[in-house]
Amino acid sequence: MAEHPPYPVGLRLTGRRVVVLGGGQVAQRRLPALIKSGADVHLVSPEATPSVEAMADAGEITWHRRPYAEGDLADAWYALIATSDPDANTAASAEAEAHRVWCVRSDDADRATAWTPATGYSEGVTVAVLTTDARGRDPRHTAAVRDAVVEGLRDGTLVAPHFRTRTAGVALVGGGPGDPDLITVRGRRLLAEADVVIADRLGPRDLLAELPPHVEVIDAAKIPYGRYMAQEAINNALIEHAKQGKSVVRLKGGDPYVFGRGMEELHALTEAGIPCTVVPGISSSISVPGAAGIPVTHRGVAHEFTVVSGHVAPDDERSLVDWPSLAKLTGTLVILMGVDKIGRIAETLVAHGKSPDTPVALVQEGTTSSQRRVDATLATVAETVVAQDVKPPAVIVVGDVVAVGPDGTAA
Ligand SMILES: C[S@@+](CC[C@H](N)C(=O)[O-])C[C@H]1O[C@@H](n2cnc3c(N)ncnc32)[C@H](O)[C@@H]1O
Repeated sequence: MAEHPPYPVGLRLTGRRVVVLGGGQVAQRRLPALIKSGADVHLVSPEATPSVEAMADAGEITWHRRPYAEGDLADAWYALIATSDPDANTAASAEAEAHRVWCVRSDDADRATAWTPATGYSEGVTVAVLTTDARGRDPRHTAAVRDAVVEGLRDGTLVAPHFRTRTAGVALVGGGPGDPDLITVRGRRLLAEADVVIADRLGPRDLLAELPPHVEVIDAAKIPYGRYMAQEAINNALIEHAKQGKSVVRLKGGDPYVFGRGMEELHALTEAGIPCTVVPGISSSISVPGAAGIPVTHRGVAHEFTVVSGHVAPDDERSLVDWPSLAKLTGTLVILMGVDKIGRIAETLVAHGKSPDTPVALVQEGTTSSQRRVDATLATVAETVVAQDVKPPAVIVVGDVVAVGPDGTAA
């Protein structure tokens, strides 16, 4: 019997009689899944563990407080034999065979007519793992395979797209600062299910290379548009693809709502009647300084951090940033999109009271293999950026946290 692999099947036990012999640890482990399946479970055993007894008290199973007796398996569809009495197990096994009741034996897998797989659940699927023969039985290995599959499905490292139950629409996914490991579990799973991915220049671009060939990857930076049309063109691309019934992921750098225009895209999609979900991401404003060894707060050094955009200069009428007030803050200033304007920003901060010696760090392409950190002060940062050829994308950190060493002392 053990020469051939078992034939896997899913028993639909709702309302059907299942007999469990023995109320010990084996029953305790197996009963929850039987109860979950809706089976009419009858436990035959003089004793039971407190957990098994609780299941009987709760009415989840019917407990017959006596030893096994011939005839117990007559009306069963399925049986679990797990008493501590070898003779009872053998007799019950013979009765199961005579009545053609599939039965699991905890004491002798070789003689059993059925085996219990290692089982796990993930989003509408049951993962059940069996060994192929009795001699190769290694329950810890089957459990490990089950865990690997269930975990992989949960975190998206195992790609198994839904086909029938998938809903078309758009997911605005924050991809984190660039390191492919720094996307969220949910983001990664949605990416694994996408038909179309519209990706930014920033973010975890390495993940795009892992997508299966049928996935259409659109580089948002290359969508043709007129000078002020970029966002509109991206919105249109999202809407068009979703209208064709596709699952679309808009993969963005960092977090969609931190200088990411996420809400504009959400509005456009909502207006077009496209279902949209937003997945937060790890923002570069915190993670990029961290990757370069700079904490944005530190006990005794900074009790606040402020994230601002430096894409327009302080004296530009379009600027919404109150630079003179920022100069008066004692905490950390984190500037995104500020490489081009850092000279004017530093001048403004000093003019309004910040010390010219305030430490500044520029972290370029943080969390990627090209990451580099350049240090300066407010007085020197303009010339340092030119001399060191610092290029976007970079996060600029201004404040005493820049000088906090890894041992927690100011350097
Ligand atoms: C349009 S903003 C988007 C920010 C993004 N939504 C976030 O939460 O990180 C782009 C700016 O983020 C910063 N940035 C994003 N990723 C970065 C990285 N890996 N290294 C350095 N700066 C980065 C740069 O300042 C860049 O100019």
